[in-house]
Amino acid sequence: MNVLVTGGLGFIGSHTSVELLNKGYEITIVDNLVNSNIKVLKNIQKITGIKPEFKEIDLRDKKELTKLFECNNFDGIIHFAALKSVNESIKKPKLYKENNIGGTKNLLEVITSKKHRTNLIFSSSCTVYGQSKKLPIDENCPTNNIESPYGETKIKCEEIILEAVKKYSNLNAISLRYFNPIGAHESSLIGELPNGIPENLIPYITQTAIGIRNELTIFGNDYPTRDGTCIRDYIHINDLALAHISSLNFLSKVKNKKIYDFFNVGTGKGITVLELINMFEQTNSLKINYKIGNKRKGDITSAYADISKIKTKIGWFSKKSISDALKTAWEWQKRISNYEN
Ligand code: NAD
Ligand code: WQD
Repeated sequence: MNVLVTGGLGFIGSHTSVELLNKGYEITIVDNLVNSNIKVLKNIQKITGIKPEFKEIDLRDKKELTKLFECNNFDGIIHFAALKSVNESIKKPKLYKENNIGGTKNLLEVITSKKHRTNLIFSSSCTVYGQSKKLPIDENCPTNNIESPYGETKIKCEEIILEAVKKYSNLNAISLRYFNPIGAHESSLIGELPNGIPENLIPYITQTAIGIRNELTIFGNDYPTRDGTCIRDYIHINDLALAHISSLNFLSKVKNKKIYDFFNVGTGKGITVLELINMFEQTNSLKINYKIGNKRKGDITSAYADISKIKTKIGWFSKKSISDALKTAWEWQKRISNYEN
């Protein structure tokens, strides 16, 4: 199977590319490097022994995208390429719309301008649920409570993908609504590369542990949870990568049927911020300097997935432990300072 991976040098895309190559898929990576480093390509090759095809293309550039599709038939496309900062999206909603929705529209237009049958997997997010009244969150929970322009781009992309599947006979698609991906590859050759001060908890923890940040601020400890801190569903990056391959395989087995569906990808277990910090400390035998601060605007109290739909329909479920994710995240942080090598 010939698979196009958009955003394939990013955090989730690079781990998925490695798993695809390890399983014998032929892949082409497209990335504009807005939030990634070209060295990731070399490290994907180091891990797998295979140099994937790479094109530096911005998905907003329809001419370049069309050229790529003129020379290739992709049986599968995993579409990661997007901007993902909730904060930045509040400051630059137009950029997020143009990049995330515009890029997805271009991609759909070039796919559907061809006759070749393509299975598309789209990176959606648990952010589409906002603060759900129902926990664990299942796929029927409402998506009308989105807090950010970033989140709006995700639900809009899901909608335009659904429309395209209905309209064009050569396209089937799945949207995967990820909960909180964490960890790094066991080789420590690829991982998360945050730009500037991290917004997400794990890179903030690892940067504090290594001394880049003085202390971690826990955003509030008076939420109505078991220890007052927010609850999330943290999912090992390797398990998440494999969810894409299971989804592609699921679609490739479907014959003579149109399919669009969407699935939660998490572990199904909620962990508080304090529990996660304690696990990080125990797993890696170190102490994190932290204080309790104000609540972060827009944070939701609790979000964890009901994963029965993906388990039943696709057969995917998470296998790796959170402590393994915390160990690999720390190993990766220690290596990043040597990323040149
Ligand atoms: P990332 O920023 O590490 O990777 C995204 C990649 O896409 C980057 O390499 C970036 O350079 C590239 N890119 C962005 N815009 C592009 C464009 N117009 N053309 C070509 N390349 C472009 O992010 P990630 O964490 O790997 O996330 C991957 C996807 O998963 C994103 O769509 C994100 O919204 C979604 N997602 C991420 C999380 C998370 O917590 N990391 C959670 C839910 C959903
Ligand atoms: C996790 C918990 C914070 C940093 C983000 C995106 C969302 C989706 C998933 C992409 C929260 C707390 C964090 C810190 C802290 N991504 N925290 N101190 O909030 O679940 O969501 O990732 O689609 O759109 O918003 O993840 O890692 O930012 O925070 O106390 O310095 O850690 O309050 O409870 P979140 P996160």
